[in-house]
Amino acid sequence: MNEQEKFRKTVKEVHRILMIVLVFVGVITSLMVYIVVDPGLSLFKSKEKSDYAVVEEVVDEDLIVDGIHVRTGLIEAEGLMEVVNNCTNCHSAKLVTQNRMNKERWEATIDWMQATQNLWDLGRNEEIIINYLVTNYPPVKVGRRATLTGIEWYELKK
Ligand code: HEC
Repeated sequence: MNEQEKFRKTVKEVHRILMIVLVFVGVITSLMVYIVVDPGLSLFKSKEKSDYAVVEEVVDEDLIVDGIHVRTGLIEAEGLMEVVNNCTNCHSAKLVTQNRMNKERWEATIDWMQATQNLWDLGRNEEIIINYLVTNYPPVKVGRRATLTGIEWYELKK
């Protein structure tokens, strides 16, 4: 082997090592960039799961549409969140929205749940909750029906 051949071989060797190092650095850099861009590694998760995550992000827990708290169906008014936080844990909010009562009966319902259903002491929220209930879910007034007009009466046959 003459000097020139030796030199060529060394250059080739150095070139090879450089290429390996470069590929290595390239792979590590790409990985790091990927982890920074997508820390949740969502690209590797199943499609349904990532779709679910997207839906979860979009739906606002306390979204209000046309004055109704969408998640529970309760009317948006003062005291809404106190009711959501204290009255939808054990049963559906429907049990609240389907009932219409005066102050005494709402109070009695809450007392009954506290005495028999382990409903906790509502503290200062009790007044807020009862005000909300009486204001938004008062008894429905049953009025007289309108007088019938324009009826053609007929004789009942025996
Ligand atoms: C610790 C659990 C719990 C919590 C919290 C709770 N309830 Fe109840 N509530 C119950 C149970 C149990 C029933 C009976 C359910 C049934 O009959 O299916 C009930 C029934 C009711 C009823 C129906 C009563 C009737 O006469 O039929 C109403 C109205 C009601 N709850 C309103 C509320 C309101 C308003 C709040 C918030 C202050 C609330 N609940 C919080 C447990 C709870």
